[in-house]
Amino acid sequence: MTHDGPLARNYAPLDVTIAHAEGARVTADDGTSYLDFLAGYSALNFGHRHPALLAAARAQLDRVTLTSRAFGHHLLVPFAAALTDLTRTEMMLPMNTGAEAVESAVKVARKWAHATRDFPSDGGEIVVAQGNFHGRTTTIVSFSDDPLAREGYGPYTPGFRSVPYGDAAALDAAVGDRTVAVLLEPVQGEAGVVVPPDGYLVEARRITSERGALLILDEIQSGLGRTGHLLAQDAAGVRADLTTLGKALGGGIVPVSAVVGRGDVLGVLTPGTHGSTFGGNPLACAVGLAVVDLLRDGTLLARAAALGERLGERLSAMLGDGLLGGVRRAGLWAGIDLPEEAAIDGHELCVRLASAGVLAKDTHGRTIRLSPPLTIDEGDLEAGLDALEVTLREAV
Ligand SMILES: Cc1ncc(COP(=O)(O)O)c(C=O)c1O
Repeated sequence: MTHDGPLARNYAPLDVTIAHAEGARVTADDGTSYLDFLAGYSALNFGHRHPALLAAARAQLDRVTLTSRAFGHHLLVPFAAALTDLTRTEMMLPMNTGAEAVESAVKVARKWAHATRDFPSDGGEIVVAQGNFHGRTTTIVSFSDDPLAREGYGPYTPGFRSVPYGDAAALDAAVGDRTVAVLLEPVQGEAGVVVPPDGYLVEARRITSERGALLILDEIQSGLGRTGHLLAQDAAGVRADLTTLGKALGGGIVPVSAVVGRGDVLGVLTPGTHGSTFGGNPLACAVGLAVVDLLRDGTLLARAAALGERLGERLSAMLGDGLLGGVRRAGLWAGIDLPEEAAIDGHELCVRLASAGVLAKDTHGRTIRLSPPLTIDEGDLEAGLDALEVTLREAV
């Protein structure tokens, strides 16, 4: 594939052109088969073309696919009920992409604060964490500290303050009576699967509750089974006021995102104050309902936890052998760092891994994220990790 011509050059993909995909495997147009250890950055938690999700989508294609919110359809309220039931929340707002869900949560939090607390209409602050990744809109990149994501896009949206991730004392010091909300990823995905210290989310919950601020957790990448829990916040025993979901909610078929949370907070939205032409469309709801069905009985969560243990064992052994410089893991999701002295960078490792039949993606130079589908066979997981180990032995 070439990046010349009319396509904007905002990505630098590996030289693999995928023609077909099923489960954890994809086949390129030259017939080469790969194991997909990226899984669409967790948008493909259920693998490619999961039969139950395809069936739901196909059935809906034959009925109605788009109504806009100007009219109703028969799946919108059932999807809202199923998703709030699954996530033990009170209300949901359907959107499409992850960034839209985060934008929506920011808007709702501000509106809630202005309606219920004594903030001037342009006042109030949202506290975020350094190293965050919440999407690509103008407001979201305004509070990113990744120069690649941010630079050149000013003027930036004011009203955000950034503190070191995982540092409860810094959070405590930053949250005051001007704070509308704290917005965090329970595990920072794009940063390289950075898992905060034990107790951090509990502290974030305590601090926000005590000061009357909202806790917004972005589970677009960490949610829906990836960590072996339905939501990463479940592992910490914490319930956010608002949680953003996306990626896997669309089953790898259509973009589906949502904000779920407290009814009194999402309840500040009234007709005309927020919206989306495509949010909550019938096709999205059909797929989203099928995704909820897949997650409901917990089998996939247990599977992610068990396979994650194995992933952890294998990566620890590679770390012990000096093949890796760092390993962080949450369920079936890992960030691995090449050793400092490695002669290759993360991109080159991904190129070599692809030659060995495994697709993965580097982030921030020396780090690679591993997030195979939760449905991957044990044998395929081992085979992918064998390929990683062999590739590292040759490269490091
Ligand atoms: C935690 C988190 N939030 C938001 C987003 C943005 O999602 P989207 O690319 O669907 O806008 C991402 C995407 O990687 C993410 O990881």
